[in-house]
Amino acid sequence: MLGQDLVALLRERGEDVRALSRDDLDVTDPDATAAALRDAEVVVNCAAWTAVDAAEEHEADAFAVNAVGAAAVARAATTTGARLVHVSTDYVFDGAATAPYPAAAPIAPASAYGRTKAAGEWAVRAECPDHVLVRTAWLYGAHGPCFPKTIARVARERGALDVVDDQVGQPTWTADLADLVVRLVDARVPAGTYHGTASGETSWHGFARSVVSAAGLDPQIVSPTTSDAFVRPAPRPAYSVLGHDELTAAGVAPIGRWDERWAVAAAAVLAG
Ligand SMILES: NC(=O)c1ccc[n+]([C@@H]2O[C@H](COP(=O)([O-])OP(=O)(O)OC[C@H]3O[C@@H](n4cnc5c(N)ncnc54)[C@H](OP(=O)(O)O)[C@@H]3O)[C@@H](O)[C@H]2O)c1
Repeated sequence: MLGQDLVALLRERGEDVRALSRDDLDVTDPDATAAALRDAEVVVNCAAWTAVDAAEEHEADAFAVNAVGAAAVARAATTTGARLVHVSTDYVFDGAATAPYPAAAPIAPASAYGRTKAAGEWAVRAECPDHVLVRTAWLYGAHGPCFPKTIARVARERGALDVVDDQVGQPTWTADLADLVVRLVDARVPAGTYHGTASGETSWHGFARSVVSAAGLDPQIVSPTTSDAFVRPAPRPAYSVLGHDELTAAGVAPIGRWDERWAVAAAAVLAG
């Protein structure tokens, strides 16, 4: 989802982009990774095991991609002398905070997916001094299954739906994150950890209402419910709001407010 938007943006800019799908490169193979990334000036690792619930039963498989694969990409970037942008997640935090997480806040993942992504962060820091680690959250985009597409479909099919109101975060458009990645590289920001999410905050219920409105339906058909009514294998962080002070300090403007960005994104995402 992120990779395709990033490649499209870079091609629009006329950059020399080598886009590698999983068929082209399995990042769990260190030799293939080193060979594929030879000559790169900038490497952006968008590859991940992102099936959060499946990771609970397949943590070793998720670890192979999110930690071992991240290490292989980081080592290859270092060997080649490339700057590395690595994408991580709000799931490295426990979600118990009540104010936005600064990038330096202690991590405490509560799920298998979060543990594997946290291990990936350590691997990137250990293997590639010239890294830009970007944590994101609540991604949606045109190129892949995502929350808005599911909500719009279910709303049309069923005419009413319940959505959890006790998990708060920052819905973030992959096109905006792609743009932020490019701006971070252009600005040659200091190596370190940054948060790449939209600003403001809402619950999944609040976001679902905005989605249903954008789909031309009555937002009142979305009723609030709680996480207790929707138990899933992996625990979800209750509070996934990430702070952007490190971006501002580096002179890079954060992505705008989630509701304003959704207004821009909705047509393209729901048509995707
Ligand atoms: N989606 C979110 O809400 C969210 C939230 C926070 C952070 N993130 C992070 O943001 C980044 C991008 O997420 P996304 O939503 O764009 O993910 P995505 O759509 O699931 O894309 C991940 C890509 O990685 C590929 N991949 C998986 N295993 C691989 C391997 N061994 N070698 C090479 N490629 C492999 C997948 O290929 P296949 O499709 O063939 O498996 C897929 O193309 C990830 O680091 C993710 O952890 C996402």
